[in-house]
Amino acid sequence: MSANVVVETRDRVTRIEIARIDKKNALTLEMYGAIGVALSAAEADPQVRAMLIHGKPDCFCSGNDLKDFLERPPHGERSSTFDFLHLIADLKKPLVAAVGGAAVGIGTTMLLHCDLVYAAPNARFQLPFVPLGLVPEAGSSLLLPAIAGYQRAAELLLLGQPFGADKGFAAGFVTEIVPEADLLERARGAALALAALPPASVRLTKQLMKSHHARAVGEQIEQEGRAFRERLGSPEAKEAMTAFFEKRKPDFSKFS
Ligand code: COA
Repeated sequence: MSANVVVETRDRVTRIEIARIDKKNALTLEMYGAIGVALSAAEADPQVRAMLIHGKPDCFCSGNDLKDFLERPPHGERSSTFDFLHLIADLKKPLVAAVGGAAVGIGTTMLLHCDLVYAAPNARFQLPFVPLGLVPEAGSSLLLPAIAGYQRAAELLLLGQPFGADKGFAAGFVTEIVPEADLLERARGAALALAALPPASVRLTKQLMKSHHARAVGEQIEQEGRAFRERLGSPEAKEAMTAFFEKRKPDFSKFS
C-alpha cells in the first residue's frame, strides 16, 4: 500500500483519496499500485456496491509523477500504471469522481472511465500529452472524440491547454458542476444513491452501456501504451519534462 492513497469502505461505498498534496497529488508507480489494489478489492467485495475517487477540493491530481517518467519509465507492457488503466476501464461496479483544482493528464483521462463526475468551478483540466512530447493514454484518444466529438477532442488533445469545468461539462465528461464546498458531499451522495439501488441491475446497465466498445478501448490502451513508451524516451519529452522541473519554458526549436 502507499501512504499517499487513503482507502476507506463505509456504507457499501469504497472511498479512494489521492493524498500527496505536496506534489499536487501526482501519481507515483506505488500510488497506481495502491489504487489498483483498492479498486480490485472493491470489485471483489460483495459488500461494496460503488466506489468514489477524489483528492482535495482544490487539487484532484496533477497526473503521472514526471520524475517517475524521467527516472522509472515503464519498459514493458506490464506496470502498475498499465494495470490501473485496464482495471479502471473494465470496472463492473460504478465509479464516481469528485474533481476540484488541478486534474492533469491521467487526472483527466481517468474521468472518461468514471460513471459520474462532479466538478467544482475551480476544476482545471488539462491533457498536456503533446506539449510534453508524449501521446494520449488511458484510451482517451478513442474515448474523448467519442464523448466530445472530434473537433472538441482535437482542441483538447492537440493543443493540450488547461480548461475549466464549463468546458469539461460542454465536452460531456463532467456530469454536474457543484460548488466547491459541496463537492465531496454531492459525489458521496451519488455513490450512496448508486449503492442503494438493485446492485445486479446497476452492474448490468453499466455493462450494456460500455460493452459495445469495451474491446476497442482495451486495444486502444495497448496501442497508446506502445507509442507512449517510445515517446517517453524521446529527446522532445526529455526536454519538456526537464524544463518543468527547471521551471523554464521548453525549447523545441532544435527538433524536426
Ligand atoms: N509530477 C511530479 N511533481 C509534480 C507534478 C507532477 N506531475 N505536478 C506538480 N509537481 C510538484 C512540483 O514539481 C512542485 O514540487 P516542488 O515544491 O518540490 O518544487 C510541487 O508539486 C508543486 O507544484 P507547482 O507547479 O509549484 O504547483 P502549481 O499550483 O503552480 O501548479 C500544476 C500545479 C498541477 C498546474 C503544475 O504543477 C503542473 O502543471 N504540473 C505538471 C502536470 C503534468 O504535466 N502532469 C503530467 C501529465 S502526463
